[in-house]
Amino acid sequence: MRPRIRAARTDDLAELVALDAACFGSAAWSEVAWADEFDRLSEDRVVLVADEGAIAGYVVLLVPPVVLDVVEVLRIAVAPAERRTGVGGQLLTVALDRCTGRTVLLEVAAGNEAAIGLYQGFGFVEISRRSGYYAGGEDAVIMRWREES
Ligand SMILES: CC(C)(COP(=O)(O)OP(=O)(O)OC[C@H]1O[C@@H](n2cnc3c(N)ncnc32)[C@H](O)[C@@H]1OP(=O)(O)O)[C@@H](O)C(=O)NCCC(=O)NCCS
Repeated sequence: MRPRIRAARTDDLAELVALDAACFGSAAWSEVAWADEFDRLSEDRVVLVADEGAIAGYVVLLVPPVVLDVVEVLRIAVAPAERRTGVGGQLLTVALDRCTGRTVLLEVAAGNEAAIGLYQGFGFVEISRRSGYYAGGEDAVIMRWREES
């Protein structure tokens, strides 16, 4: 079933906490951190979920006031069993649709081939690296997307 991409609701919180733990393990956001994201929905956060009855994936954006033209992708993940079926691409398509006229930045571990492959497919390009940024010494790659004119 092709999921419906929709804005997250507060009653998604428990499901998102559990899915984030399944996707990121020790690097998962706590329930408090997720609740904080929800508290910011009226300010500068956008949380989209891929709804298949259960939540198959999600993306979290930092969208500052319009005077600042840079949007940041803070998180994107898809349930392990649903990967490579296009859900991540669907989430990113809807997310980028909301970024017309803006620059989008994200940071990704240099060895995360799946995520980098996804981002490159949307036209993200590497603009810099933070050497040894992650625990374990892995580099962070900073990638940028701009709507093609
Ligand atoms: C990155 C992630 C969100 C991709 O989601 P997904 O639903 O599997 O992605 P899609 O099925 O839409 O794939 C789109 C494209 O991304 C690339 N891609 C996805 N998974 C890949 C993999 N394992 N290896 C290489 N390229 C991959 C491919 O180009 C793919 O297109 P294709 O299937 O036509 O070849 C998913 O792997 C994930 O949740 N990873 C763990 C969390 C994470 O690392 N998040 C990013 C850092 S915050």
